[in-house]
Amino acid sequence: MAPVSLEKLTKVYPNGFEAVHEFDLEVADGEFMILVGPSGCGKTTAMRMVAGLEEISSGVLRIDGVVMNDVSPRDRDIAMVFQNYALYPHMTVGENIGFALKMKHIPKDEIEKKVRETAEILGLTEWIDRKPAQLSGGQRQRVAMGRAIVREPKVFLMDEPLSNLDAKLRVQMRAEVARIQRRLGVATIYVTHDQVEAMTMGDRVAVMRSGVVLQCDKPQTIYDHPLNLFVAGFMGSPSMNLFEVHLGEGGRTLFLGTQKVELPATVLAAKPSLVKFANKDVVVGIRPESLMIAGTKTNDNAKDFVFFEGDVDLVEALGSEILVHFSTDAHRVEAEGVYSDDAEGLDAGLITQRGEGVARVPPETQLVIGERVRLQVNPKRLFFFDPATGLALSE
Ligand SMILES: Nc1ncnc2c1ncn2[C@@H]1O[C@H](COP(=O)(O)OP(=O)(O)OP(=O)(O)O)[C@@H](O)[C@H]1O
Ligand SMILES: [Mg+2]
Repeated sequence: MAPVSLEKLTKVYPNGFEAVHEFDLEVADGEFMILVGPSGCGKTTAMRMVAGLEEISSGVLRIDGVVMNDVSPRDRDIAMVFQNYALYPHMTVGENIGFALKMKHIPKDEIEKKVRETAEILGLTEWIDRKPAQLSGGQRQRVAMGRAIVREPKVFLMDEPLSNLDAKLRVQMRAEVARIQRRLGVATIYVTHDQVEAMTMGDRVAVMRSGVVLQCDKPQTIYDHPLNLFVAGFMGSPSMNLFEVHLGEGGRTLFLGTQKVELPATVLAAKPSLVKFANKDVVVGIRPESLMIAGTKTNDNAKDFVFFEGDVDLVEALGSEILVHFSTDAHRVEAEGVYSDDAEGLDAGLITQRGEGVARVPPETQLVIGERVRLQVNPKRLFFFDPATGLALSE
């Protein structure tokens, strides 16, 4: 039996706004479930309904099979860690962690033992007698987690617990939270709007937009088989390149702006439904890492590849790889509401409104800004979407 089960959970706020619409989710024992989506999509609202801090408008919430809709937050056996965690400033780390147990009148030596164990798990032993003001942001965040862990709840809810930390600490804590969750083995729902956290931390990811879960699956499955344009554009950094193209007669050619691109027969064989889009528009998606610069020595084995040209606008050498920003005269598709925290700087210097894209290439690639390059992609790596519905063509 799943420790947490949400069945058509819906929230309509008193002003009539529906923030969460028929949210279905089952979190298995020990599972680390990530809830991801852009700002305002209803993540916090969903968590607050599970925690009992927000009334459930309709639907059923069960914990260990027991309906919880009308059970008070205290009796749900849930612990929450929020973005704006509040520690008691006058208490030490140890006292902060043990506070919930003290309120339950648990014997003092038992509290001490639990606090010590928890501090050990979180790497806080050294700081156990310090006050929060003497701690770093990351340490404070761990104390906040400690206060949740010590209660040994059936379910953890974490709502963007790392968003107040600086980038470096965030990366470090990302791994640490995942490690602690595995060690404790408690069913966890972790909210983030950072798709890197979503990709790396959890067992499964639920991608949400406008109050609705669009796809819920293992992170790699979502990455490899996004069900629609939004999920395709949201998961992955830099985002998938999405262009609206015109498909030619019989679906054997496509027009990327003014460029005519030949499609090998294997493309149509793998996705026969493309034929329906012959002489129509279709959205093609290419992940940045699937694009290569044709003619560079790492990949002249290019038989059966698909080629097109782009103008190099910007080159970002990251050491381990190069991000090549290029433009074409095709129409670039913005999956509505797509954004990512990690996108800062990616668009810097790009003023052109032309069909821009990004390729991720090996660090030794020689590139000159302004030059025209030939790009190639393995046709197996092309995604296709129906522009009318945004749905992926799966076959
Ligand atoms: N009390 C309220 N009354 C009416 N609307 C509300 C209320 N609280 C939140 N909302 C709206 O519900 C929607 C979902 O809000 P929520 O806080 O759940 O989003 P979120 O996904 O957690 O966003 P973020 O990533 O910014 O934290 C938003 O459009 C918000 O404006
Ligand atoms: Mg929120």
